Amino acid sequence: MYKETDFKKIEINTDPPLTEPERQYYYIALCRELVRREAERLGRPLTCCVTTFGCQMNARDSEKLTGILKEAGFAEAGEEQADFVIYNTCTVRENANLKVYGHLGLLKHRKKNNPSMRIALCGCMMQEPEVVEKLKKSYRFVDLIFGTHNIYKFAELLAETLGSKGQLIDVWEGTGQIVEDLPVERKYPFKSGVNIMFGCNNFCSYCIVPYVRGRERSRRPEDILKEIETLAAEGVCEVMLLGQNVNSYGKTLENPISFAELLRRVERIDGIARIRFMTSHPKDLSEELIQVMRESKKICRHLHLPLQSGSTRILQAMNRKYTKEQYLELVARIRREIPDISLTTDIIVGFPGETEKDFLETLDVVRRVRYDNAYTFIYSRRTGTPAASMENQVPEEEVKSRFDRLLALVQKNAKAQTARFADTVQEVLIEEVNKHDTAFLTGRTSNNLLVHFPGDASLVGSIRRVRLEASKGFYYMGTLISE
Ligand code: 5AD
Ligand code: SF4
Repeated sequence: MYKETDFKKIEINTDPPLTEPERQYYYIALCRELVRREAERLGRPLTCCVTTFGCQMNARDSEKLTGILKEAGFAEAGEEQADFVIYNTCTVRENANLKVYGHLGLLKHRKKNNPSMRIALCGCMMQEPEVVEKLKKSYRFVDLIFGTHNIYKFAELLAETLGSKGQLIDVWEGTGQIVEDLPVERKYPFKSGVNIMFGCNNFCSYCIVPYVRGRERSRRPEDILKEIETLAAEGVCEVMLLGQNVNSYGKTLENPISFAELLRRVERIDGIARIRFMTSHPKDLSEELIQVMRESKKICRHLHLPLQSGSTRILQAMNRKYTKEQYLELVARIRREIPDISLTTDIIVGFPGETEKDFLETLDVVRRVRYDNAYTFIYSRRTGTPAASMENQVPEEEVKSRFDRLLALVQKNAKAQTARFADTVQEVLIEEVNKHDTAFLTGRTSNNLLVHFPGDASLVGSIRRVRLEASKGFYYMGTLISE
């Protein structure tokens, strides 16, 4: 519907419609008028910049924000030049919040030199009441603050901000609503994230996500498939299905459907050559999914399977609902059925009460699974989560030493795992011209391994066969096989 909409023809001198997405289309049309007038006044086009913190979900949300800003008439620019700057924030660890405050300091200075500048903040961090209080008190120069649940209303909020002065705050506690058919500006023409669900019901005891992203809501399969068909028609060949826990996709829909069944249907879409997904909770990974992956020609040979800890005792305190043995057994089953798969994971070090013995259990799992890569995090205390009030928070020195030992093992494994592809020929989706040397291209194998090789920019976006020659630890240097 959005594709057929001509925003120039929308009547803005009437009341806005009450249904979505028509209401947002109305506000996009209104923004266009406000942006046009301001640009005329300044005698130059208005520019915008969307800065993303955090995960792939946020990256996808940022494409939606950019889509609306561009429809409203903003041109994209670097943060230093932009008239409208928006930070799509993350709050999964304290560090993420600190980064945002650091950046805001710089923006304040810039706004002094450009009085027509507007600053907006959205995303997970805005769902924390303490954050909003702090912004209200000490960051008055921020013009617009909204959260994760009403991001679909961005056009409406933008119109209000552009048409007024002062700080506008609109943060909701939750929503059951999913608004389809809003503009999106994709970062890559050939690959795209696709939200399949929002929120999380798992309440891992360290994690703030269920509080800031709300309860699990799945999109209807027909909406997802329609979106992917449209993407394929536009030239997208790789999709990444996104959700906090894709393995529980569809369970709460009026007509329930499994994630594996959704994958089967995505597989049938012509033009889509590769399917990825993120993230899988081990407790919900079904036998059906393993079989679908095994039989699929399109699902990439990569599974991200967050471990968090290798100690059953800590896993229980984390509310992860699996034991060390169950996790290892699951990995063994996956490897048995899909031997060429790459496994990656997330691990937290220093969860409250973690002893040296618990930590050695984590190292043991890492040694046994031989992950292709692992994202390692130092436990960060998030206000409001059960773990924040647990006793026995681990001393910083101890955590640091464990973290370093874990990282060394992870890197050693990654190197060994990467080496197993030496001298093989792999299909590579060419993603970009190499940033350091423009004679080279950079692409990704189905296993999610990066490869650099000499080639021409015209190949970006295509899937080609590349010989992986020299392993460099985490990536390869290769050569293109001429067809
Ligand atoms: N501290 C450290 N790491 C965390 N993660 C989530 N919450 C926290 C926290 N409080 C990590 C988990 C998750 C990843 C996205 O972030 O490992 O899988
Ligand atoms: Fe956080 Fe656990 Fe939900 Fe992942 S599954 S978002 S770690 S609560």
